[in-house]
Amino acid sequence: MKRILTGDRPTGPLHIGHYFGSLQNRIILQNQYETYILIADVQALTDNFNNPEKVRDNVKEVLLDYLAAGIDPSKSTIVLQSKIPAIAELTVFFSNLVSLARLSRNPTVKEEIKQKAQIFNDSVTYGFFGYPVSQAADILSFNADLIPVGEDQLPMIELTREIARKFNSIYGELFVEPNALIPDKNARIKGLDGNSKMSKSLNNAIFLKDSEDEIKQKIFSAYTDPLKIKKNDPGHPDGCMVFYYFNIFDSQVVEKVKDECIVGLRGCVQCKKELTETVVNYLKPIREKRVELEKDISNVFKILKEGTNKANELTSQILNIAKEKMKIDYNFIFKFK
Ligand code: TRP
Repeated sequence: MKRILTGDRPTGPLHIGHYFGSLQNRIILQNQYETYILIADVQALTDNFNNPEKVRDNVKEVLLDYLAAGIDPSKSTIVLQSKIPAIAELTVFFSNLVSLARLSRNPTVKEEIKQKAQIFNDSVTYGFFGYPVSQAADILSFNADLIPVGEDQLPMIELTREIARKFNSIYGELFVEPNALIPDKNARIKGLDGNSKMSKSLNNAIFLKDSEDEIKQKIFSAYTDPLKIKKNDPGHPDGCMVFYYFNIFDSQVVEKVKDECIVGLRGCVQCKKELTETVVNYLKPIREKRVELEKDISNVFKILKEGTNKANELTSQILNIAKEKMKIDYNFIFKFK
């Protein structure tokens, strides 16, 4: 069975962008592949080194969201990155195989550095600049075959393949060159304000854990057609975020909503009320499952612990082979098992 590795930085609770963009897909993939899901807290620290509490708190949030949304721990192994020493060690060894020039050509990192100029005081850290090397170690320490990610992560997968190839050619065959698995309809969900990206930091997200009231209040403040002021004004659904979310949550009613809006038979208040009901109902099972899980948080953490232990069995074996190949096992001196 092929092995999958994927992951998220724990920097906030998961929102519907994560759900439609990746979680839904993982819930299907876990039935077909040996699946590992990494809560990448070490990577989260690369741009949140100032705010360790935020990362720590969100490990729990992300874990709860995974389980509530349908990640099944009997099928998917959930792993805490900072507890996998093989990743840290391989990061060090892999850093010899990547040039600075190569790292500086990563378009995703370039874009992030621009956005995060404030955090880095206009001079990016070694850790952030080099996180793609650490991400290669995430992937290769599991020798994963397939990496389900959004398009922005393709440069990381490409670098991982290069590192695998270089390692294999210098030290001998070990690492699989992984392939990205991009979801069919590359579903990047727009934010409530119409921004092309939904994100916590842009304050335009509907979280999986939002209460009914929060969902309502968010949908009522969503960006709609500015030319439609009165109920009977003819509307322009394209660009209206309420219409956009109808499309995602209930494609059955979309045509009707569109026709009625355009001819002025449907006001925005009615539309927002109906969408609120649709979204609340859609997310209800996730919300309820989360409440259930929160009642026994020690059991939730036990899932993370067992997943991490299982991952350490696999990754420490791969690390040991890598060290043998790099001639740094020294087994003739230190009789480690
Ligand atoms: N960089 C990924 C993101 O920002 C998260 C991530 C960390 C990841 N390690 C990974 C994704 C390994 C896939 C495989 O979304």
